Amino acid sequence: MSSSQRGFTLWFTGLSGSGKTTVSRIVERELRQRGLKVEPLDGDIVRQGLTRDLGFSKEDRDKNIERVTFVAKLLTRNGVAVLCSFISPYRAQRQISREEIGEFIEVYVECSVEECAARDVKGLYAKALAGQIPNFTGVSDPYEAPEHPEIVIRTAQETPEESAAIILGYLEQNGYI
Ligand code: ADX
Repeated sequence: MSSSQRGFTLWFTGLSGSGKTTVSRIVERELRQRGLKVEPLDGDIVRQGLTRDLGFSKEDRDKNIERVTFVAKLLTRNGVAVLCSFISPYRAQRQISREEIGEFIEVYVECSVEECAARDVKGLYAKALAGQIPNFTGVSDPYEAPEHPEIVIRTAQETPEESAAIILGYLEQNGYI
């Protein structure tokens, strides 16, 4: 069963508060229930450890994604289902991750800045809009949406369970699970 598991990385990209972590947790649970080895790598956690020395300049964000990509590549080639949830705002850096990891499935977590700011789960948009957080993605820093993602989920229109089902459907149809 798990010995023949085909490794892959689901790469969730989208604004802060778009729902990357929420949806990836449901997918994680479902994959575990099917007996797969799963490893989530999440911006908020990884930035407390592996990349705690980094901030949010373009250079630091690229380094953040570069290090995570290194880890995701090792796990993927060892047959793990890796769930990466990072804003990862730069298209060129995501392209590098895609090439490095190989079995790379880009999931665009589409949600407008207005919707993310209205949710404001971490209270960061209020601060960013008040000018208290410089370089805040979507407010005072760029987000380059994917042009050809394998999967798009629309979290303002779908429930997290519906979004997760779209992702699981893709994995089934493409022989990953
Ligand atoms: S990334 O741009 O390098 O991919 P990452 O996903 O690791 O970002 O971290 C994003 C999280 O850091 C956000 O969800 C938010 O909680 C926090 N954060 C703090 N400052 C910023 C900022 N200036 N821009 C975006 N997110 C920020």
